[in-house]
Amino acid sequence: MATQPGGAVAIYPGTFDPITYGHLDLVERGARLFDRLIVSVLRNDAKTPLFSVEERADMLREAVQGFPNVEVDSFHGLLVDYAAQKRASVILRGIRAISDYEYELQMALMNRRLSPQVETVFLMAGEAYSFISSKLVKEVFSLGGSISGLVPPSVEARLRNRVRGWSGA
Ligand code: PNS
Repeated sequence: MATQPGGAVAIYPGTFDPITYGHLDLVERGARLFDRLIVSVLRNDAKTPLFSVEERADMLREAVQGFPNVEVDSFHGLLVDYAAQKRASVILRGIRAISDYEYELQMALMNRRLSPQVETVFLMAGEAYSFISSKLVKEVFSLGGSISGLVPPSVEARLRNRVRGWSGA
């Protein structure tokens, strides 16, 4: 791994709508590997997320409090430009199942083409988290299913407020 003054910086980018224990498992693994890990929420006007970028970043900040080398940020535009701005040499991504591979491979190769000096590093989420996705968490929760153990309690509380707001209850 290319090192640099101040140590190896990695970016863990994503939508994080909302953060799950699967994401946090990756943060924990990444925090052990890199000197500085920046978890960064994409500002994407094309998507209609459940939570605003600020809400997602707040939930992340609450969840990563225990990791002194992890910080939370947001970005827009090309990820490789953001990585350059942060002097990051690594993009960190998680792979849950083989179904993630194609999408991740496309992104990693495109990012390599755009910026060969930035390496994408994939980590396997713990098997207990390999089925969790933000999308499924939202779906199960909105249909009244239990998401206990899938997201931090503070995220569950925010989901409860948001879904209550939706149904007008
Ligand atoms: O959590 P997600 O939605 O799978 O994360 C996707 C993300 C944010 C990593 C990806 O959409 C991204 O990097 N977007 C920034 C725009 C960009 O650089 N696009 C070209 C990368 S192939």
